[in-house]
Amino acid sequence: MTSSPSIVVVGSLNADLVARVDRFPAPGETVRGSRFEVFPGGKGANQAYAAARLGGAVALIGQVGGDGYGLWLRTHLQDGGVNVHGVGTDATTSTGIAVITTDRTGENTIVVVAGANGTLTPERLEPSAAAIERASVVLLQLEIPLETVGAAATRARAGGARVILDPAPAAPLPHALLALASVVTPNETELASLAGHAAPILPIPTDDLDRLARGLIGRGAPAVIVKRGERGARFVTAERALDVPAPAVEAVDTTAAGDAFNGALAVALAEGASLDVAMPFACAAASLSVTRPGAQPSMPTRHEVEAFVAARRRGQP
Ligand code: RIB
Repeated sequence: MTSSPSIVVVGSLNADLVARVDRFPAPGETVRGSRFEVFPGGKGANQAYAAARLGGAVALIGQVGGDGYGLWLRTHLQDGGVNVHGVGTDATTSTGIAVITTDRTGENTIVVVAGANGTLTPERLEPSAAAIERASVVLLQLEIPLETVGAAATRARAGGARVILDPAPAAPLPHALLALASVVTPNETELASLAGHAAPILPIPTDDLDRLARGLIGRGAPAVIVKRGERGARFVTAERALDVPAPAVEAVDTTAAGDAFNGALAVALAEGASLDVAMPFACAAASLSVTRPGAQPSMPTRHEVEAFVAARRRGQP
């Protein structure tokens, strides 16, 4: 990797195979879909793309397979301004795939098949080690091997970068990894899962939310931002908690709203903004993303977010 991006994302790339349905099928049931599309996705790639759209200097480190999807995903990211020199190809496997259904309310279900994302070993980070160490923000998720997430976090902290750890999809996390993060950004379901609870009834009451977040803090995380969808986000540390509302919008597709949030948070933090500024910016980017279908195609530009925030301030919809 030659350039020196301020934001480095180490994570997944997926082709999202998306079927629109009126309602989700029950187990054993077949429902008719109204539309099928293929979108560029993957939590790592989405967050990198989101950050680049918002003006960040971003590099993505990941793996694709030797198929057409891999080339397509790399090209789409590159066209969006993401440095993809750190995206390798493992011709022995297929590119990551997400099979997604979205219903009429914009909600989704997702099944992810890791494919090449599972071949991003810690050794494969080595050519990008200097970029990780020089970054000001490193963004990590859990769609790649956990030991690689740990290795990237270790490198990042050694170089002085802030580490945003998005624990999605939720998986048991070692205390050492939580302690390497600067901030952990689960949604409510992931937060409950990290505490060993089954799918909670949403929204989780604030007291319970704070207790769960402080459970993560007790296991090493310095701070937690809980992404709450249309309810915005809640920042929790051992000492304080802060709610940031999300601007109300008409949701078309909530896929990758969390990725828009994380990408925007990374951009704001890399620019030196405080969390009081970064969180509303991230909530605005996430709100805008749900008004459009698809993962990466839904990511707003910097201009769109600023215009949206300004219009809301003036009381316009
Ligand atoms: O966060 C949304 C993403 O999750 C989708 O793009 C899909 O690829 C899955 O990884």
